[in-house]
Amino acid sequence: MDQNDLGTDIEKVLVTEAQIAHRLTEMASDIDRDYQGRDVLLVGVLKGAVMVMADLARALHSRVRMDWMAVSSYGSGTKSSGVVRILKDLDTDLKDQHVLIVEDIIDSGLTLSWLLSNLRSRGAASVEICTLLRKPEAVKVELDVRYVGFDVPNEFVIGYGLDYAERYRNVPFVATLAPHVYQ
Ligand code: PRP
Repeated sequence: MDQNDLGTDIEKVLVTEAQIAHRLTEMASDIDRDYQGRDVLLVGVLKGAVMVMADLARALHSRVRMDWMAVSSYGSGTKSSGVVRILKDLDTDLKDQHVLIVEDIIDSGLTLSWLLSNLRSRGAASVEICTLLRKPEAVKVELDVRYVGFDVPNEFVIGYGLDYAERYRNVPFVATLAPHVYQ
């Protein structure tokens, strides 16, 4: 898929396919270096992280294991309430594991803040975060994020795993949508 396939839906491309590929290679090499000699468990947070996980994992030289979680915000309907419900839990026992959470985006940071303490409470030896995108202006909680691909403005973005009403996840770049798509 490329921009021609999307007609007038795209307002602005924020991160190109080439930029993503290049940055993921750099991040993978940092991860290889930092985890040298240690067994790593990559934990992907469904569904947005699917693309990052697939490409990051293949850019690594380390022999990692992968597992997946699906979470959803509880109650109020706003995804940034910070109260999270597990829809699909990990299959792996985290005791003494070195866990690297793989995310597509950190918006308010509330999902990851909850996830960090949840995974740490399971007795992991370490839990770190790797995200392709972060919105510094939207962050509501202090989060120690070890690996960040790109900081993006506080706008609604789609592509590379990120959706609008479940669409656009397979767009290979990160972009903002034209207003007519919402209207
Ligand atoms: C997105 C993203 C993060 C979360 C970030 O997931 O993948 O998990 O929101 O938001 P926060 O920093 O404000 O907590 P979403 O709930 O849209 O689900 P999806 O990955 O299935 O699209």
